[in-house]
Amino acid sequence: MGEKIRLDRLVASQLPDVSRADVKKMCLKKRLAVNGKLMARSDVRVDTDDEITLDGKRIEYKKHIYIMMNKPQGVVCSTKDGESTTVLELVPENMRRKGLFPAGRLDKDTVGFVLLTDDGELSHRMLSPKSHVPKTYHVRLERPWEENYKQLFAQGMTIDGGEKCLPAEFEGSPENELECTLVLHEGKYHQVKRMFTKLGNKVVFLKRTAIGELPLDEKLAPGECLEIMHKDVERLSTICEMPCK
Ligand code: URA
Repeated sequence: MGEKIRLDRLVASQLPDVSRADVKKMCLKKRLAVNGKLMARSDVRVDTDDEITLDGKRIEYKKHIYIMMNKPQGVVCSTKDGESTTVLELVPENMRRKGLFPAGRLDKDTVGFVLLTDDGELSHRMLSPKSHVPKTYHVRLERPWEENYKQLFAQGMTIDGGEKCLPAEFEGSPENELECTLVLHEGKYHQVKRMFTKLGNKVVFLKRTAIGELPLDEKLAPGECLEIMHKDVERLSTICEMPCK
């Protein structure tokens, strides 16, 4: 047994451009069926496990949707932008929902893992300063990384404007002196770039490769989306026990 919910609310919640008034019209036109029975009224209560069809096509009920996007360069994470393409515009039709938004932002020139969801509660939990969900970044630098970086990141850095950062984990690539990985437990504005600026270096390429314990799927081409299934959603929001400094 699922949850009991009004038919109009259920259908409108699953289809991006459909209002409850539209669902009423669908019923009047005999387009909506519940468990094979055409519904004349949209204000009836149904079970979320019921088989609901529109013009014979199944509407699979999902309370929330979670999407992994491999954000390309030049695309912005805000929901509206006059000039640039937004991440929402890249979401394919079958994954669109009302209230979908990016849970955490990447800069326009940063690529990689962006989570989009209509689950306000998860998003709030992940973005809360108390949550410390680790975010992993692959970084290419202008100048070679130095041996002391690991310790400087680990002890917590103070960046421009006097902002104190939580300890972060730095790993220089053994094969390439310009490449490294950084794991942050918070998300200050332009944080990765500002931290390397503080060290007298410069980020020339930045890609988010994981959120929590969930890595970006390597098969996802830039701009592509993948729906994340329930067990993987849990891997996103592992709360790190690191104390706040
Ligand atoms: N840090 C940055 O500087 N930019 C991003 O997009 C993400 C983290």
